[in-house]
Amino acid sequence: MFSFTASTDVSSDEYYQELVSQLTGLLSEERDLICNAAQLSAFIMQMVPDLNWSGFYFAREEELVLGPYVGKVACTRIPFGRGVCGKAAETLETQRIEDVHAFEGHIACDADSASEVVIPVLVEGRLIGVFDMDSPNVNRFTEKDQKGLEALVNVFVKATDFAWHF
Ligand code: SME
Repeated sequence: MFSFTASTDVSSDEYYQELVSQLTGLLSEERDLICNAAQLSAFIMQMVPDLNWSGFYFAREEELVLGPYVGKVACTRIPFGRGVCGKAAETLETQRIEDVHAFEGHIACDADSASEVVIPVLVEGRLIGVFDMDSPNVNRFTEKDQKGLEALVNVFVKATDFAWHF
C-alpha cells in the first residue's frame, strides 16, 4: 500500500518540494510511459487539493489524444490550437486559466471545471503531449502552484522512457 501525506501545508513554500521528493521515490523503479503517466495523474489528484480532473493528452501528429487520467470521462481528441489544451500544445507554454468560462474556445469536458492549468510535456525539445489539471474553484492555481506542478511534470519526464512513444 502506498500512503502519502505531506508534513507541510499546501500554502507553504516547502509543499511542492515535498511532493517532488515523494514523486521521485514513487517513480524511481519504473520507466514505463503508461504506468508513470497513470501514477502522476493519480498522485497529483491525491496530493493537490481541490482538483476534479488530472491527466494526459498525448500528441499524435496535429492532434491531442486522451491518455491516462483521473476524473470524469473526457473528450478524446483535441486539435492543436483548440481549447486550453490545444493552446498549450501549439504555444509550448503552460496555460494557467483563472476562469475557464472567460477563456474563448474552452472545451468543457466536465461542467464542474472552473479553472485549469495545462503544462506542455517536452522531451528533448519534442512535444509528447500535455498534462491537464482542472479545479471546480475559480482562480485555484497560483503562480506557485504552476511552478510546483511544472516541477512534478519534470520529475515524470526524467523518470520515464519515451522510446515507445517516438
Ligand atoms: N478543458 C480542456 C479540455 C480537456 S478537459 O478539461 C479534461 C480544454 O479546454 O482544452
